[in-house]
Formats: sequence, C-alpha cells, structure tokens
Amino acid sequence: MEIDVTQLRELCAELATRAGQLVVRQREALVDRGELAAAETKSSQVDPVTVADKASEEFIVRELALRRPGDGILGEEGARTESATGVEWVIDPIDGTVNFLYGLPQFAVSVGVAVRGELVAGAVCNPVSGELFTAAAGHGASLDRGGQTTPLRASEATDLRSALVATGFAYVSSRRARQAEIVTGVLPEVRDIRRMGSAALDLCAVAAGRVDAYYEHGIHPWDYAAGAIIAREAGAVVRHPGLSASGDDGGLTIAAAPGVWADFEALVTRAGGVPPLR
Ligand code: IPD
Ligand code: CA
Repeated sequence: MEIDVTQLRELCAELATRAGQLVVRQREALVDRGELAAAETKSSQVDPVTVADKASEEFIVRELALRRPGDGILGEEGARTESATGVEWVIDPIDGTVNFLYGLPQFAVSVGVAVRGELVAGAVCNPVSGELFTAAAGHGASLDRGGQTTPLRASEATDLRSALVATGFAYVSSRRARQAEIVTGVLPEVRDIRRMGSAALDLCAVAAGRVDAYYEHGIHPWDYAAGAIIAREAGAVVRHPGLSASGDDGGLTIAAAPGVWADFEALVTRAGGVPPLR
C-alpha cells in the first residue's frame, strides 16, 4: 500500500501538540501538589523521569494503537511494539526533562516516523512557546505558531568562525568528561556554544537558522528522529547513528547549515568527536 508521508506528518503534528498540552497541564498539577521535585531517575542520579513523561508517552501510544494498528513504536519511557507494516513511530514524550523540572521554557514533545528504517516525517512541539516544527520527506519543513505557517530554512552561514553551535551533554559523568574535552577543541574555533537542554529543539534550531550547527554524542533515536528530518528538510546536512543504534553506544549526531557543513565536520573530527564515546 502506498504511504502518504504528508498524512503521517499531520498525525505527528496532532499527537505532539496534544501531548504537549497534556504535559503543560501535568506540570501545573505537579506544581499545585508540590510534587515536581519528586521525580524518579533513570540512567544516573541526574537523569529524571516524571509522571508527565509517562502520561505523555501513554497518550501517544494509546492513540497510535487505535489509529495506526500494526505500526511499530519506540518510546523513551519504554514503549516497544514490533512493526507489522514497515512503519515505526519514534517518540520522546518530553525532550528537555531537566528544563521541564526547573520551569525553563525549552522542552518539547517529539514524534518521528520511519518507513523501513528511513525517517519520513516528524513533529516537535514546544508547548510553552506555542511553536510546532514539522516536516515530511520531500515536502519541506515548516513552523506553525499563532495560526501562521512559515517555511523553515537552515542558515546561510559560510564562515565557521562566526557560526553559533548548539551541543548537549550526557547524563553519565564519564562520558561528560570526554564531551568537555571535545568542546574545548570546538569552542575557540566558532562564534559561541549554546547548551539549551533539548536535542529535539536543538535540531529544530538548526532548521530555523537560530543556530548554524549542532553536535552531540550518545543521544537516542527518540531524541533526534523528528528533529533530524525537520533539519534535513530545511536544507541542513544531518548525520546520525541510525535508528537501530542505541544512544548508549555513544555515536555522534551532527547537523549543520550546508555552507559550514564541511568545515564543521572537519572541526569536530579534529576535536576528537568522530569515534563513539563510551
Ligand atoms: C536529553 C536532552 C538533552 C541532551 C540529552 C538528552 P531528555 O533528553 O535532549 O538536550 O543533551 O543527551 O538525553 O532526557 O530530556 O529526554
Ligand atoms: Ca530526550
């Protein structure tokens, strides 16, 4: 059966938006009950998971089971369904959970979808800013905000020395130490570094020309699935380890505006950033 990627994008957008609204309501309820600080932790003491992460994933999984029976699902909070259709949904129910906990307005729901392992559509919703980033393969990427839709384009930067670069750091201390060494090689060669706290939104920032490049080691498919296709459809060059690889393998995800891609990739290579970080 023919797959309509624009319909998949519509469903990504709807699910990310509705889950985003749910997450904001959940945050307000947690604040009211004084329970926001009581988050559990996952891979390390500083890797939080809240009831809102779980509720958001449960909502998306429930909708997909009803509306796309047979499709596969991979979710950060544990959703695992084998695909019987070749279509697989890759979900981050809250990307930027630390920002969510602290009330920093930089977190998102990310819903990506792949067909036989290739990303074909995605949506990233920041429910606080009201921004919805979407893309479908071959159909471009756009930003919806306040009822207006604008196409997304990566920046026209050509000079790496004036490029603004986003990155992020792992929850595991030993990997962070290696990431600090790599950023030491990158920082002197670019305009500046941003650590905003959501890989999905970092990739959308590349798509919107709000930063010129992004790199990070060890992010998981749910962190980058939607953002990667959004950045790519906005004209950026994007490389990631592949949806079947786990972030635990420490592989590099890297994206840049086309005019700085070659120099940026060379810089990350010189800084020791190409081999996976164990
Ligand atoms: C994290 C964010 C952060 C990145 C971490 C991710 P989470 O996801 O995307 O920016 O640096 O590597 O794990 O835990 O907030 O869903
Ligand atoms: Ca995440």
